[in-house]
Amino acid sequence: MHLEKVLIGSLLGLAIPTTAHIIATEEVPLIGPSFISNFDPSNSKAIGNAKKAFPGLIDQLFESGKLNRTELAFTIDVYSAATNDSIFQYSHVGKSMEKTLTTGELNDNTIARIGSVTKMFTVYAIIAKAGMGIFSDPVTKYLPELKSTSNSSTRSPLDGIDWDDITVGALAEQQAGTGGIMDYIDEKDPTHYEVEDLLTFFREKRLPVVAPYHSAIYSDGGFAILGQVLAKLSGKSVPDAFEDILWKPLGMNSTSTTVPKGSDINAMDRARLGLGLKTSWGQDLEIVASTGSIYSSTADLRRAGLSILNSELLSGPTTSQWMKPRSGTGSLVELVGAPWEISRLEIPATPGSNRTRISDLYIKGGGNRDYTAIFALSPDQGIGYSILVGGPPEEATPARWPLRDLVGETFIPAAEYAAAENAYRNLAGTFVDQSGSGSNITLTVDRGHAGLGVKSLWLDGKDNRNGTHVRLFPTGLNSISKSLSSLYKKEGSMRIAHRSVSPMSPIESRADVEGGHGGLFDKSFTWMDVDSDGGEDLFILNLKDGEVDSVEYPLFDLVMKRVK
Ligand SMILES: *[C@@H]1O[C@H](CO)[C@@H](O)[C@H](O)[C@H]1NC(C)=O
Ligand SMILES: *[C@@H]1O[C@H](CO)[C@@H](O)[C@H](O)[C@H]1NC(C)=O
Ligand SMILES: *[C@@H]1O[C@H](CO)[C@@H](O)[C@H](O)[C@H]1NC(C)=O
Ligand SMILES: *[C@@H]1O[C@H](CO)[C@@H](O)[C@H](O)[C@H]1NC(C)=O
Ligand SMILES: *[C@@H]1O[C@H](CO)[C@@H](O)[C@H](O)[C@H]1NC(C)=O
Ligand SMILES: *[C@@H]1O[C@H](CO)[C@@H](O)[C@H](O)[C@H]1NC(C)=O
Ligand SMILES: *[C@@H]1O[C@H](CO)[C@@H](O)[C@H](O)[C@H]1NC(C)=O
Repeated sequence: MHLEKVLIGSLLGLAIPTTAHIIATEEVPLIGPSFISNFDPSNSKAIGNAKKAFPGLIDQLFESGKLNRTELAFTIDVYSAATNDSIFQYSHVGKSMEKTLTTGELNDNTIARIGSVTKMFTVYAIIAKAGMGIFSDPVTKYLPELKSTSNSSTRSPLDGIDWDDITVGALAEQQAGTGGIMDYIDEKDPTHYEVEDLLTFFREKRLPVVAPYHSAIYSDGGFAILGQVLAKLSGKSVPDAFEDILWKPLGMNSTSTTVPKGSDINAMDRARLGLGLKTSWGQDLEIVASTGSIYSSTADLRRAGLSILNSELLSGPTTSQWMKPRSGTGSLVELVGAPWEISRLEIPATPGSNRTRISDLYIKGGGNRDYTAIFALSPDQGIGYSILVGGPPEEATPARWPLRDLVGETFIPAAEYAAAENAYRNLAGTFVDQSGSGSNITLTVDRGHAGLGVKSLWLDGKDNRNGTHVRLFPTGLNSISKSLSSLYKKEGSMRIAHRSVSPMSPIESRADVEGGHGGLFDKSFTWMDVDSDGGEDLFILNLKDGEVDSVEYPLFDLVMKRVK
């Protein structure tokens, strides 16, 4: 198959949803990456095409009125953990926003507000300080002030929150039913927000929104409380805890919970438009520092994103535990993490194919009225992106969504295609046992299928071919390190474990919602069958500077060297 040609031609229809009808791959893949990402995507044709196409696609958003050209300013950064650097940057400054730029320029170091992206940092800091174990602790372990007062034990569950039932994890996962914060803020004298008052309010007055773990319901109030958990854990104020646990170790020098001060600040400062209290710039309340306060730049958000993808502050296993769905929503494509907003993307399994596989994009969105932001990480391909938006609230608030969608729909499939492109060049091939046993394996990249294909497998001269449906998937296990940065390391030698998946023949039709005729249920059992036959499905790819040099089949003690 002329995959090369497909790879080059396939990006034309990129941002137009390629999947008017979802037709999932015939066989159910394992969740996680389709191919390893130990290569530099910035040299790929797919990313190159995406970069070329992007300005025209943004223009379409202006033309269609989805983005207001004159009123908005925004900056976009797409980066890769294989290079620890940007692979694409784009910015736009509308006429009405020119005056807000303190340096006259909007760039990677320009500071804006990120609103509720703050919540991701609150959870990041708590996990970095205390580990994931803290998720099972009741909040009252850290904030005993929230414990029910004597007569509230007879209180109806409708009339107040029983904080002994609320865990740190429930708050982090937006599953505590703890509601908003505006009623507390509005009730108070704006010059006096005391932690004690906050806790009293949430103990006595806050009506629960849903029962604990009933379902995910977004909660600004919960994140204000979570900030106090962070403060208690670190023995510091929330701003100081952020500084110590995150900003300093990560070199995020342009990030803060209060407005940056100084004459040489590079900022998008809407107070310069004489808006008074109509801008959120400079309106800082320490009591909500953990829920929606942070000022940052795309350069700093890239540092944060790379630190997560590379598991710099948290261990690899802890990072992977954190980056998992913990709840769902009423939509199949929107899951909820801690506090990730996870978009389950159906993307073409290979370039130009109408067969799709799912890839989870970990997002936190945010807004402070006239500033909005998106922070997104795609562990499958080792890329991330950030978007900072400024403009009048009625423009800036909705603008983040078409921007989130456009960057995601352009660069996530492009990164996926880049991985397929790399797999075709550097992973696929024929590998032969040099001892003359008559054993060899041929690995392929096949249109419309996720993972590497096992086109043929000969063992001691015997055909062990299992058909085109045998697919190999990376397992996240490699010989050099448990750090997630090894998933994106493009140089040096390493052994990378893969498992093969081979569905029963004939393959069951996929569920209706996935484009099949299988009704409501999945009947593949793919993830249950792995390793059920004594390691018969384990293959180890030996990578040298990104290219597979040999394939090990441990069950048969075989090492097969690349012949082409
Ligand atoms: C952009 O906003 C300005 C000011 O509100 C308005 O006059 C203009 O019509 C808007 N443009 C578009 C394309 O919506
Ligand atoms: C990227 O950063 C990680 C973590 O610091 C490091 O392990 C890795 O080697 C870096 N990769 C490159 C290409 O610099
Ligand atoms: C419960 O306590 C509150 C104040 O803490 C008090 O006003 C109320 O009368 C008490 N209710 C009962 C039934 O004891
Ligand atoms: C942040 O500031 C420290 C101290 O001034 C400096 O050593 C470091 O290089 C800065 N980091 C970045 C990423 O600019
Ligand atoms: C999907 O692509 C295949 C191969 O290119 C083609 O044969 C098939 O008609 C397509 N199906 C749909 C529904 O577009
Ligand atoms: C693979 O092994 C089979 C059986 O021993 C043999 O016929 C075939 O030529 C081998 N292929 C290669 C590329 O060595
Ligand atoms: C492949 O198929 C052969 C022949 O049907 C069978 O003996 C073997 O167990 C299968 N291997 C795998 C890895 O599924």
